[in-house]
Amino acid sequence: GKSSACRALAERLGFTYVDTGAMYRAVGLLADEAGVALDDDDGLGRLVAHLTFDLADGGTRLLVGGRDLSAAIREARAGDLASRVSTCPIVRERLVAIQRALGRSGGVVMEGRDIGTVVFPEATFKLYLTAEPGARAHRRALELRARGEAVDEPALARELAARDQRDQTRRHAPLRPAEDAVVLDTTRLTLAEVVAAMERLARSRGVVPPS
Ligand code: DC
Repeated sequence: GKSSACRALAERLGFTYVDTGAMYRAVGLLADEAGVALDDDDGLGRLVAHLTFDLADGGTRLLVGGRDLSAAIREARAGDLASRVSTCPIVRERLVAIQRALGRSGGVVMEGRDIGTVVFPEATFKLYLTAEPGARAHRRALELRARGEAVDEPALARELAARDQRDQTRRHAPLRPAEDAVVLDTTRLTLAEVVAAMERLARSRGVVPPS
């Protein structure tokens, strides 16, 4: 849900889209591939120390160490791996530095749990998207079914709740809205309505597309 909405918003504004969850997903996959334990902070530190991240096609494709991981990172397994490696402070430090470099000159829609609180506390405009758990599980189920995957919706809802819980209670950069973020509840909105609302809010708060 949020990635599709943020990508569309970036397109409307003529900005670059930066999906920071994709970076944590990539680190999770690479750690798994390299046999680094997900709680081995030193091992993860060595893994991310020299990793390069490059955006291609306006932010829609992510190259990690030169490899295109765009498809692999969308799998459910990658989300789970990401949630685990994202509790590691060294991983967060390295990815935050990369994200700050990517957004330094502005003109980006950056999506992620700690962007307004940690990465860019001075952002021009901060938006915090929420939706009821049932609605989120249903959206995710539709997305997976569209890709031909079998779906157990109640199990999905439980996984989402567990991930939220882990993200909200972790010690470093927990998921929470910044104090100056606008909170948008998308439970009863379609994707198009969410994008339109985001664009309206962004423009009304001084976000100006390049002329
Ligand atoms: O948004 P997503 O589902 O792609 O994120 C996957 C995981 O990555 C999520 O469970 C927590 C982590 N993450 C994070 O800790 N900080 C971010 N800025 C983005 C993602």
